[in-house]
Amino acid sequence: MALRAAPVELPGIQRRPEQAFGVYVHVPFCITRCGYCDFNTYTPAELGGVNPDAWLDALNTELELATARLDAPTVDTVFVGGGTPSLLGPARIVALLDTVRRHFPLAPDAEVTTEANPESAWPDFFEAARAAGYTRVSLGMQSVSPFVLGVLDRIHTPNRSASAAREALAAGFDHVSLDLIYGTPGETDDELLCSVDTAIATGVDHVSAYALVVEEGTALARRVRSGELAAPDDDVLAHRYELLDERLSAAGFDWYEVSNWSRPGGECRHNLGYWNGGQWWGAGPGAHGHVGATRWWNVKHPNAYAEALQGSALPVAGFEQLDVEALHTEDVLLKTRMRQGLPLEVLNAAERERAKTVVADGLLIAEDDRLVLTPRGRLLADAVVRTLLG
Ligand SMILES: C[S@@+](CC[C@H](N)C(=O)[O-])C[C@H]1O[C@@H](n2cnc3c(N)ncnc32)[C@H](O)[C@@H]1O
Ligand code: SF4
Repeated sequence: MALRAAPVELPGIQRRPEQAFGVYVHVPFCITRCGYCDFNTYTPAELGGVNPDAWLDALNTELELATARLDAPTVDTVFVGGGTPSLLGPARIVALLDTVRRHFPLAPDAEVTTEANPESAWPDFFEAARAAGYTRVSLGMQSVSPFVLGVLDRIHTPNRSASAAREALAAGFDHVSLDLIYGTPGETDDELLCSVDTAIATGVDHVSAYALVVEEGTALARRVRSGELAAPDDDVLAHRYELLDERLSAAGFDWYEVSNWSRPGGECRHNLGYWNGGQWWGAGPGAHGHVGATRWWNVKHPNAYAEALQGSALPVAGFEQLDVEALHTEDVLLKTRMRQGLPLEVLNAAERERAKTVVADGLLIAEDDRLVLTPRGRLLADAVVRTLLG
């Protein structure tokens, strides 16, 4: 595997035309930084002159260069993530999709998602996005407990997330998702269940639930290190996962990846593309792309991003050519976490032998020619993958 440092010239990319193709757009703006978050996002004070219009101009140039590189493939899925895409407001979220369409043909049934934050997405935002052709909204709810939202430094009121989800549905979105975080220090079982029940009651068709991760360099990590907050406890996290899985299943949501549940037909096709070894162009500051065997990542700061594109250069910070072994590791890692399971044919002889032990331990079951995580296996998915890979 060849690893290169920035700034770099992206080598020729061999796209596999038979595989689905997606576009990810990273919107690097937030009003404030939540204490747990280490995503590549910037508050106004950290931006140093780049505003959303300049970012949109730069994005237009990146997509123009991208489509020339790939020969304008038809796009099956678009995912606008962040950061906070809803901070762009209705007019720019429409302009953003126009920019993608200007350079890439969209499949007639393309899935087009935008993330949105409850405090900056209102009916006019949802209506404009729906009319422009977005088909899916993913909202960060995290919790409905005032205490938990306080620990997480969320700036929306406890009721706002459910209202925003209902407004998105009323604007005509068939697919709306809510993100939850569980295991925040001090959270109770009842607070988690109240968040899950509130999410279900909105009528959304998708829920993602993530165990709180204490990321190095965040305000949360400093508070945990100083002893002000307890670190999330593994047993508590496992118990909470079981609680929320039980509640979601009873309400007709099936897990389709360890952290993702949907009603039938509500699965996120863009994320399924990531997990099934699909290809996508990642546009925007810090975005990662993966087409054929090439994976690359953009420069992180919006200023450096805009500067590179002003000179008509792709803003690539580094790339790697994945060899057969790296592609195999990724395949096992991602497919094991999915409900559809890991096809046995993916595994080599030694891995199949190790898989027998994992099955005997009750963490995987064989379903036809696939291995699927059991309920206990889902709690230990990382360990299962480590054992399989040896
Ligand atoms: C990067 S955010 C972007 C979406 C949007 N800005 C928001 O905050 O809702 C995507 C999701 O990742 C999850 N997330 C981010 N950092 C996390 C962490 N340290 N632990 C667990 N989940 C995290 C949150 O659920 C969040 O909704
Ligand atoms: S969690 Fe979302 S709103 Fe909070 S800082 Fe991260 S990207 Fe921004």
